Amino acid sequence: MSKLRIGVLGGGQLGRMMALAGIPLDLDFSFYESTPDCPSARLGPVFGDNNNSTASLDAFIDSADVFTYEFENIPAAWVERIAARKPVFPGVKSLATSQNRLNEKALFDRLGIPTARHAAIHSEADLRAAADAIGLPLVIKTVTMGYDGKGQFVLREAAQIPAAWAALGAQAPLMAEAFVSFTRELSIIAVRDQAGAVRCYPLTQNVHHHGILSHSLAPAPDISTDTQASAARHITDIMKDLGHVGVMTLEMFDTPSGLVANETAPRVHNSGHWTIEGAPCSQFENHVRAVAGLPVGDTRCPRPAAMLNIIGQHPARADVLAQPEAHLHFYGKAERDGRKIGHITVTADDRATLDARIRALAAVLPNTMALPKN
Ligand SMILES: Nc1ncnc2c1ncn2[C@@H]1O[C@H](COP(=O)(O)OP(=O)(O)O)[C@@H](O)[C@H]1O
Ligand SMILES: [Mg+2]
Repeated sequence: MSKLRIGVLGGGQLGRMMALAGIPLDLDFSFYESTPDCPSARLGPVFGDNNNSTASLDAFIDSADVFTYEFENIPAAWVERIAARKPVFPGVKSLATSQNRLNEKALFDRLGIPTARHAAIHSEADLRAAADAIGLPLVIKTVTMGYDGKGQFVLREAAQIPAAWAALGAQAPLMAEAFVSFTRELSIIAVRDQAGAVRCYPLTQNVHHHGILSHSLAPAPDISTDTQASAARHITDIMKDLGHVGVMTLEMFDTPSGLVANETAPRVHNSGHWTIEGAPCSQFENHVRAVAGLPVGDTRCPRPAAMLNIIGQHPARADVLAQPEAHLHFYGKAERDGRKIGHITVTADDRATLDARIRALAAVLPNTMALPKN
C-alpha cells in the first residue's frame, strides 16, 4: 500500500482534528500555516512563513499528494496554484462560492433554496434603497472574510444608516439581508465522496453567545422527517452543483414557515465536533476519507450528544473528566478573550440526562455559556 500524504491549508484545530482522524487510516499530513506553534504542529510538518511566500507554498505543494483546506478565508490564488499541480478537494468552485456571501445567496436562489431577501451594498445610498425595498431590520454584512459574527451590523431603524455605513463602509463590498426572526439556528453537515455518494449527519441545533458558537445539540430536538429530508436535499443539491468533494456545512434558520438558508462552509465545522464521539464516523474522518478517495462512513447519531465550546480560558482538566461521558479536546492554543481553545463532547442515553450533564459541565467552564432553556 503506497503512502498518501494530505496537505492541509491552515494549521488550526480543524486541520489537527482531520489529522487525528486520518493517522489511524495510515494517512500522513502536512500543513501550511504561518504560525509554527499551531495546533497541528505535533501531527506533521508545517510549511509557511510570515510573508506566505511563493517558495514556502511551493515547498508545501511538494510535500503532499492531495490537498484540502480548513478555512475558507484564504486567497483563492493559493488554491489555484496547488490545483495547477495536484488534486485539491473541495475544488476552487466550492471555495469561491462560500468565500463570497453574494455568490452563496445567488446559488441558493438558483437552486430554489429559501433564503433571506438581500441586496448588494456599495454606498450609503444603497443602504437607504435596501431599507426601502426590503424593510427593517436589516443585517448588514461584509461580502467576504466574515466569521464568528464579525463584520456585521443590525440596522433596526433608518436613523442608524450613517452609523452602519461608518462602521462597515471601509470594508465594502457589503450586503444587506432581511432580518430573519428564527426560532432557532440549525446546521446540516454532509460529505460527498469522489464517486458522488452523499451522506448527511442529522440536523444539529446551535446556540450562539456574543456571535460565537456556545454549544450544539445533536440530533436537534423535535425535527420532523420532512425537515431533515429538506435540509438533506438542500445540501445535496449544493454539493452536486459545485462538484464538491469532502465535508460541507449549511447553516440555516428554523422559522414557522420552514428552513431558511444562511450560509455554507466548504469544510468541517464547529457544529459537527460532536461527531467525533457521537457518530460512527466523524466529520473529520469522513472528510479525509473523501479527500483520500476512500468510501465515506456512517453518519448516524445513535444517542443524544452535545458539544460545548471552551472559549477564552481553559477549565481544569480533572473537573471536566470527572463528569460522566465527557470527552475533552484542548487545541493547544493560548488563552485569549473570545478565542475558541477547545471543546467538550458529552453523550447520554436520553435528553434529560444530557441536559443535566450539559449544566454540570457549564458549571466547570470558566466562560459563560448560553444554557439550554427548560
Ligand atoms: N439575516 C439574519 N437574520 C437574523 N440573524 C442573523 C441573520 N444573519 C446572521 N444572523 C445572526 O448572526 C450570526 C452570524 O451570521 P453569519 O451569517 O452566520 O456569519 P458568520 O460568517 O460570522 O458566521 C448568525 O449565526 C445569526 O445568529
Ligand atoms: Mg455563520
